[in-house]
Amino acid sequence: MLGLKLATDPRWVNIAESNIEEILTDHAWCEQKAASNAIYIIVNSSENEELVTEMTRIAREELEHFQMVHDIIKERGLTLGRERKDNYVNELFKFSKRDGSRNDSLIERLLFAAMIEARSCERFRVLSQNIKDEKLAKFYHDLMVSEAGHYTTFLKLAKKFSERVDVDQRWKEWLEYEAAIITNYGKQETVHG
Ligand SMILES: [Fe+2]
Ligand SMILES: [Fe+2]
Repeated sequence: MLGLKLATDPRWVNIAESNIEEILTDHAWCEQKAASNAIYIIVNSSENEELVTEMTRIAREELEHFQMVHDIIKERGLTLGRERKDNYVNELFKFSKRDGSRNDSLIERLLFAAMIEARSCERFRVLSQNIKDEKLAKFYHDLMVSEAGHYTTFLKLAKKFSERVDVDQRWKEWLEYEAAIITNYGKQETVHG
């Protein structure tokens, strides 16, 4: 349903669960970045009522996810570390076209966001199915459902508001690019690591 070409090796979960503080810290910052991305779209597409409405909802949900992760960090007596770099997201960002019209850039930004949602959703599913900690398994299952909804929203909005870009074709290119880079990941205790 997500269209991803490569599945995450479940052994990645062994790495992730060996350092819960690290995965939770990285995860919290992923949620912050997702909220910031939705706000970025609001700022750049203020006249598009539907887009602003949807991005406001998503920004709130992502910040709520941040709060949920932070609550787990607090409950366990852990510390939210400093913001982590996300090499995977940076590599996706490099692929996005930023030299077209304003509408082209918007569509590209929506596809960039859909891509991150799709992989995050898949990583949360793998975590929820394999992590030994039952509370975290349930937590990641619930988040997987929420991020799947975001993925669908971003892709739907890209199709709806595209003026020139063939979204189906461009989305195929995104999936192919993602499949090529994801082979280098799955080795670190981060959401996309
Ligand atoms: Fe989220
Ligand atoms: Fe999301």
